[in-house]
Amino acid sequence: MRQLICVIGNKGGTGKTSISHLLCHGFGLLGKRSISILTDASREPLAQAHRNYTTLDGRDPMKLNRILAKLKAMPDWYGVIDGAGGHPELDRKFYELSDLSLLPFRDSHEDIRTVRHDLDAYPEALGVPSQWPTNPWQQLAAERTLDDLMQSYRPRLLEPVYMLSASKLLLECAIPAHIPTAVHNVSRSLARQVVERLEKL
Ligand SMILES: Nc1ncnc2c1ncn2[C@@H]1O[C@H](COP(=O)(O)OP(=O)(O)O)[C@@H](O)[C@H]1O
Ligand SMILES: [Mg+2]
Repeated sequence: MRQLICVIGNKGGTGKTSISHLLCHGFGLLGKRSISILTDASREPLAQAHRNYTTLDGRDPMKLNRILAKLKAMPDWYGVIDGAGGHPELDRKFYELSDLSLLPFRDSHEDIRTVRHDLDAYPEALGVPSQWPTNPWQQLAAERTLDDLMQSYRPRLLEPVYMLSASKLLLECAIPAHIPTAVHNVSRSLARQVVERLEKL
């Protein structure tokens, strides 16, 4: 089974960690088991309680190798590597190891410049519009930006992950027992798209 996904990209703050956790949460809602693998040395591991997925600390390369070896022996589990940003050599390694690579980017020219570069550097990777506007006027402007600057990459883009302040609940060390429905919906939709793309590989 295709089971390893990485969320990478050279820019910080694009939503890599959020998207990794939303995706794992979504897998859980679809009845699939997954591990969110931390690789960013500047972040702390998140507690397991109340999560419908496992969190593991892969910041140490030896530990990461052990996690990936274990994952291979558990073919019905998904692994999601949360990349660090600003480490192109690590991104390259994760891209080569993974069955599917995701590159989040926000609605800004700077993010789009970077993601175009990353989409060229990682020709099998998919872009994920992240923290996407929900206000209709801003959304229209964001769509126009995609038309102008990302048209040729459209087939490689997943549906946007919208701005959703409750998404930060999944990044708390201990998440609350109750997660708002909007977070479930975003997560489920993201996980469904990823499963579909993996099945097409
Ligand atoms: N869909 C979203 N809606 C609202 N805020 C978001 C969303 N995705 C990320 N954020 C916020 O943006 C900031 C950066 O996100 P993060 O996932 O940590 O990015 P990265 O891992 O790429 O540095 C965080 O404060 C996070 O809560
Ligand atoms: Mg991060």
